[in-house]
Amino acid sequence: MFYITTPIYYVNARPHLGTTYTTVIADVIARYYRLMGEDTFFLTGTDEHGINIQRIAESKQITPQQHCDEISSIFQETWRKLGIQYDDFIRTSEDRHIKIVQKVFESLLNKGVLYKGFYKGWYCPHCESYYNFEELEEANCPVHQNKVDYLEEETYFFSWSKYQEKLLEYYANHPGFVVPENRYREIISFVERGLKDISVSRTSVSWGIPVVSSPEHTVYVWLDALLNYLSAVGFNSDGALFSFWWPPGVQVMAKDILRQHAALWPAVLMALDLPLPGHIMVHEYFLVTGSRMSKTRGNVFDPLVLIDELSKLSGVDPQISTDALRYFLIKDGPERNDSDFSFESFINRFKVDLANDWGNLINRTFGLMLRVGLNKVPDPDELYDSEFKTEIQKYIKLYHQCFFQLSPKEALNQICAILRFLNTYIDIHRPWSAEEKKRDNCLYHILEGIRIVSILMLPFMPFSSELILRSLNYCTDKLDLRTETSLFKIKPHTPIFLNLPPLFPRLK
Ligand code: MSP
Repeated sequence: MFYITTPIYYVNARPHLGTTYTTVIADVIARYYRLMGEDTFFLTGTDEHGINIQRIAESKQITPQQHCDEISSIFQETWRKLGIQYDDFIRTSEDRHIKIVQKVFESLLNKGVLYKGFYKGWYCPHCESYYNFEELEEANCPVHQNKVDYLEEETYFFSWSKYQEKLLEYYANHPGFVVPENRYREIISFVERGLKDISVSRTSVSWGIPVVSSPEHTVYVWLDALLNYLSAVGFNSDGALFSFWWPPGVQVMAKDILRQHAALWPAVLMALDLPLPGHIMVHEYFLVTGSRMSKTRGNVFDPLVLIDELSKLSGVDPQISTDALRYFLIKDGPERNDSDFSFESFINRFKVDLANDWGNLINRTFGLMLRVGLNKVPDPDELYDSEFKTEIQKYIKLYHQCFFQLSPKEALNQICAILRFLNTYIDIHRPWSAEEKKRDNCLYHILEGIRIVSILMLPFMPFSSELILRSLNYCTDKLDLRTETSLFKIKPHTPIFLNLPPLFPRLK
């Protein structure tokens, strides 16, 4: 069983390419695990409480709940259009979540890891985080560069410092806990510098979850938010469900929220005596001309607009443009390094990889079959090419390894290597001028290659891969990646539907 999560996104604005990137990565990994026969649970959602949302709603003269309903439904609609197959979408304003947060808060109080105190210091409403004076940049938030609030209020503190040694021991014993390694080292050195107890309730924020035993306090939005990963899978409400899914195998996010997920969250889980997630998978940022793409900076790209623009330029169905965007995000997105986004780079990927390499391979093959009147998989005449098999098997093995190392980008690169191999294969064997037996043998191998590539592409480009597989008369229901990628499974004499619309046409 495999449980995977994205961060739950703030409802201070609509989804953009940065939040889309994280969600697509998690979707690709979830789809991969499903195809590998694992029971998979993919969770995403929206983080709806806190002072920032309270202020936005005030400025719009609507209630915070109305504002959250509006933006949360835009997130759900956008993910649906992008082919994100989540199993649950959790909202922190839902009753099922509120109840669990309240229970957990009381149980942390009973365990003696929360205590009442007085907080004095700075707070950034955009990151919903506390800062020391030394951390501020010219008295502004170091992340958002905006004015910070000065707070002086009674609060509950979480005894984070008590977990410092336990956390360091855990990191030492679980070197894959944070991926990649540079972020693993970063969190170790953060914890080694010393953890200070952290304020986990507010008395001046009304848009939050009230503490049952002290209703003048609402739960700090980060503690509230982190607990979504528990409340969505039945913690304290459905024991069987919870023990089936817990703990998450992978939690995906960008580097901005590493500390909350790799140091605060595990300490809370330790306090609750719960097992920790398998991997905190951290990626870098999408930039726009050198600065981070973010709602607060206002330099964001809307994924649905990009899809629409590509469809206008190419004439392809929006689902195909969606696949193209998903492909681009994994191929050029900031998996291990920041990555500058431009519309040109997106279009260029479509032209080079999808139109030239992938689309053209299918067009050339189907085109030739149409010309010579073949509408079935030709017979290889028992001459199965063992080099072809070895080469493709090598990349399939690497593809799986890359997924296990949590690098969808590298897994995709293995598919690209197969595509290069297939295009060279067709150039070398020149089926258009070969005599019939040789031509049919080559076409058999290329069709098998197209089948394998489409299967491996399913997690990345689900719509187009299914279309191609269907044209090969191949059923994708309950498809199992473990068995269906063994070579030479395509059967001679299977009818093929050659009249596929050009999937990835050349752009003018
Ligand atoms: N609500 C918190 C998360 C709570 S999880 C218990 C939050 N929300 S957020 O809306 O600000 O989302 C932050 C996340 O969005 C990042 O960690 C990352 O996953 C994604 N990204 C936002 N901007 C991004 C880029 N410019 N580039 C890549 N990912 C980006 O933090």
